[in-house]
Amino acid sequence: MNIKEQVLELLEQEKGQSISGNSLAQQLGVSRNAVWKAVKALQEEGYAISAGTNRGYCLDLDNDILSVQSISRYLLPELAGLQLEVYKSLDSTNTRVKEYAAQGKPEGLIVVAEEQTAGRGRMGRSFYSPSGSGVYISFLFRPRFTAQESLFLTTAAAVAAAETIEEVSGNRADIKWVNDVFCHGKKVCGILTEASVNVENSMLEYAVTGIGFNVREPEHGFPEEIRDVAGAIFLHEGDHGLAATDCEARSRIAAGMINHFWPYYQHLTERTYMEEYKRRSFLLGKEVRTLSEPPIIGRAVDVDEEGHLILEQKDGSRVALSSGEVSVRSL
Ligand code: BTN
Repeated sequence: MNIKEQVLELLEQEKGQSISGNSLAQQLGVSRNAVWKAVKALQEEGYAISAGTNRGYCLDLDNDILSVQSISRYLLPELAGLQLEVYKSLDSTNTRVKEYAAQGKPEGLIVVAEEQTAGRGRMGRSFYSPSGSGVYISFLFRPRFTAQESLFLTTAAAVAAAETIEEVSGNRADIKWVNDVFCHGKKVCGILTEASVNVENSMLEYAVTGIGFNVREPEHGFPEEIRDVAGAIFLHEGDHGLAATDCEARSRIAAGMINHFWPYYQHLTERTYMEEYKRRSFLLGKEVRTLSEPPIIGRAVDVDEEGHLILEQKDGSRVALSSGEVSVRSL
């Protein structure tokens, strides 16, 4: 960590309270001038740090910028070694992590952004990722899996995302097969896993799982084309659930996602997340139809160990769906 990052870490730890330049300098073993320069650079980046002659420096409680420090303070101690990068804006966190993967960076690299200008969704769609209303996060994995097994990353991520949302907001979060997370009846989180496969042995070279959370409704609402489906974790202005500020809520969501997802990843082949996935699957017990042509219609009765949705058709026969989209059939 450079001096600027260390200063930010100390200010984050005492957010809302002043720390003298002298104390910061002593703790970091640098000059007061070096501390002053670091604070100035942080202020220029937009951090709300107030400074007074006899008061020292204070990171204001309403500072609204995510940082490695604001997220790290909520990470489980055993996950502190994961490499975390935080950006105000990126084209896509998945794209950035794929670039890192191609450069040979090790697994455990996590990229977080407050805005994506070219966020990517499933099936070549875009993912609306405006600044100030969401948090977008991608993980780099290098598992010894086949491409088929990488599907479990998405399933585990959906459970981790739902658990995180509930933990931070106090609101119930459910999963719509395959991997959409719903809160208040609307989609509040989307997940996209992309992988590079070695064709010689069909094993993965790397996988990138990206998760986008709609933390609150964008300033001008969601775009027309997704308005019926998309929703936000927090519904009202000033509501941060169990967190004190918006920045804290988004930091806790990013950290919670890491805290829940990484342990699931480490035991992915044991499918430790599967019971929870089923418990949160709101399609189970409902009449659904696939969006394929011709559609398959049936009652969703189970999600098997492979993550297939099992539909029981009118004649009692069962079909296992491995991917695709389904809608709840109104009776
Ligand atoms: C979907 O619902 O279609 C999947 C959306 C996945 C969005 C996330 S946001 C973080 C990561 N970066 C991207 O460009 N996409 C994923």
